[in-house]
Amino acid sequence: VILVAGGTGRLGSLIVRRLQDGGSPVRVLTRNAGQARSMLPARVDLVTGDVRDPGTLMSAVSGASVVVSAVQGFAGGGGSPASVDRDGNRHLVDAAHSVGADVVLMSVVGAAPDSPMELFRMKYAAEQHLRQSGVPFTIVRATAFLELWTELLRKTAGRSGRPVVFGHGENPINFVSVGDVAALVEHVVSDRSSRGTVQEIGGPENLTLNELAAAVQVSEEARMPRHVPVPVLRFLGGSVGRLRPELGRQTRAAVAMDRMDLAFDRGGGREAYPDVPCTSVGATPPT
Ligand SMILES: NC(=O)c1ccc[n+]([C@@H]2O[C@H](COP(=O)([O-])OP(=O)(O)OC[C@H]3O[C@@H](n4cnc5c(N)ncnc54)[C@H](OP(=O)(O)O)[C@@H]3O)[C@@H](O)[C@H]2O)c1
Repeated sequence: VILVAGGTGRLGSLIVRRLQDGGSPVRVLTRNAGQARSMLPARVDLVTGDVRDPGTLMSAVSGASVVVSAVQGFAGGGGSPASVDRDGNRHLVDAAHSVGADVVLMSVVGAAPDSPMELFRMKYAAEQHLRQSGVPFTIVRATAFLELWTELLRKTAGRSGRPVVFGHGENPINFVSVGDVAALVEHVVSDRSSRGTVQEIGGPENLTLNELAAAVQVSEEARMPRHVPVPVLRFLGGSVGRLRPELGRQTRAAVAMDRMDLAFDRGGGREAYPDVPCTSVGATPPT
């Protein structure tokens, strides 16, 4: 059986469907089995657990040949990059080790110990633990998920029709369609020759958030997004962040995203799996 931790998420749920359609028995680790049941195919086996609590992981990994980690603690939900992306992944890797399973770890393009983005540092720490664990692994690093950002722009556009862009919105960012990432993950789960490698995947173009707002045609007015200036973001990161840590994290990340190098210039990076689609921004259906 293949265990997908994060199988209820934006990416994870697509991975689950692909693996099932390919004939693999799939189990999903979730903190909320009731909610998961309503959104996943009936044939998917569900195990309740939390990557922050290693004691809950043994029944999840029991009998698994591959453990896929598509969890994240960046966006809230009670976790954090430190507790979920770093420590939770460490617990999951150790549990996989105890049953002799391989691990496919979702990470980010740009994961590094000195990244200005906390999430990127925590993903790097998880990658390092995995590399040193002795577990056969494949690391998949993706750029920003296109559908997530499109949805954010649409949501913030609201009635004004003008989406909110954090910062100047002039920094080129690579966006990848989440369906493309799921296709790559499906490949590496079954392709044992990918063990010991890092597979990086991006979309075909780099766009600024201002360009993305215009390209996804949120509305005619989207050509004139509203901007939250960087000093305001910095202030919010400090003040709001003390009460709502996830909002603080997100505003600090927005400041970093406004200037750090987030371009990806390898034409999508599908060297090993050229049949993985490379969806362009204009080709994604509205969310
Ligand atoms: N979003 C991006 O732009 C982006 C870019 C590159 C890489 N990635 C990576 O791709 C993966 C999927 O991202 P996504 O945006 O699809 O995620 P998502 O939709 O936010 O889903 C997050 C998943 O993590 C699970 N989860 C969170 N905390 C957990 C915990 N403590 N214990 C167990 N499960 C937990 C949730 O499961 P339950 O709520 O059911 O427990 C949910 O299935 C992540 O590893 C992310 O870091 C994302």
